[in-house]
Amino acid sequence: MKPQELRIADCGLRIGGPAFRGPAFRGPAFRGPAFRGPAFRGPAIRNPQSAIPVAIAAAISVAVFAQEGGKTVADGVFTDAQAARGASAYEAACAGCHRADLGGNTGPALRDQRFAREFAGKDLKALFTRVATTMPRNAPASLGDNVSLDIIAHVLKENGFPAGPRELTADALDGVRVLPGRPKPPPPIGDFSYVEVVGCLVPGPQQTWLLTRASAPVVPSTAAQSPPVGSDASLGTLTFRLIDAIAYAAKDHAGQKMYVRGLLIRLPGEERLTISAFEMMSPDCAD
Ligand code: HEC
Repeated sequence: MKPQELRIADCGLRIGGPAFRGPAFRGPAFRGPAFRGPAFRGPAIRNPQSAIPVAIAAAISVAVFAQEGGKTVADGVFTDAQAARGASAYEAACAGCHRADLGGNTGPALRDQRFAREFAGKDLKALFTRVATTMPRNAPASLGDNVSLDIIAHVLKENGFPAGPRELTADALDGVRVLPGRPKPPPPIGDFSYVEVVGCLVPGPQQTWLLTRASAPVVPSTAAQSPPVGSDASLGTLTFRLIDAIAYAAKDHAGQKMYVRGLLIRLPGEERLTISAFEMMSPDCAD
């Protein structure tokens, strides 16, 4: 506790001190009427004590940073070439159990919440040791350190961390902190995107079925295999023609608020949706 208290005192002094009183703040740029107003004159800035909350925040972030040594997996700790080698090694040795997209299969996911829970806040060495000594589970420690390092690079890249100028080596693992992965931005929605929408089911011309007042299509999150539950998913202003809705007993759902997942097909003047999931969210379609 002592060092932090010192730091706070330090910062408090500096904020109240000459740096904030000095010519920089008196110079012509700060002379204009806008900076003469009571807000800048008032006790808020003049009184060193009221600057302390700011100082505390600053001191805490400085202390945390210093304590954790600073370096993290966000600092470019592998190269693109290394991650590319890792990708093919991963494909051959890991994807069968952890899935090509790291989403998990018979082995747990190596990204998202699971990754964060198991590895975030720990040293990168922990992740490396786990892989190099216990994986692949059907042939532990069979890959050697270099291949394991390449695979770590691939896993980090897939978790959204940037490549840098230097390859990851075994002696560079210490003191690099793992952070929770950064979800990749969803791919842009285009023709033949797999999407989900919510809308009102109404009969269209010639035995067709339409989803009206539909929400903007979004790419379903891989985690959600079922509708975003609750009837609170809001409607929108779009209309989709549903393909093969009869096969889903559309008639039984006429006028209801429906959740639809499927492929988006964009035609001039019409958007269509194939159906791979079709679920009632509310028996009426009032907003
Ligand atoms: C034969 C299936 C299989 C293969 C192949 C395999 N794993 Fe695993 N892996 C698992 C299972 C099952 C677990 C969880 C149980 C355990 O820890 O042993 C696991 C756990 C892990 C963990 C710990 C993750 C966590 O959240 O607990 C990591 C990291 C990991 N594997 C990485 C890899 C890598 C990298 C490869 C390729 C070099 C690989 N695994 C190959 C089955 C496999």
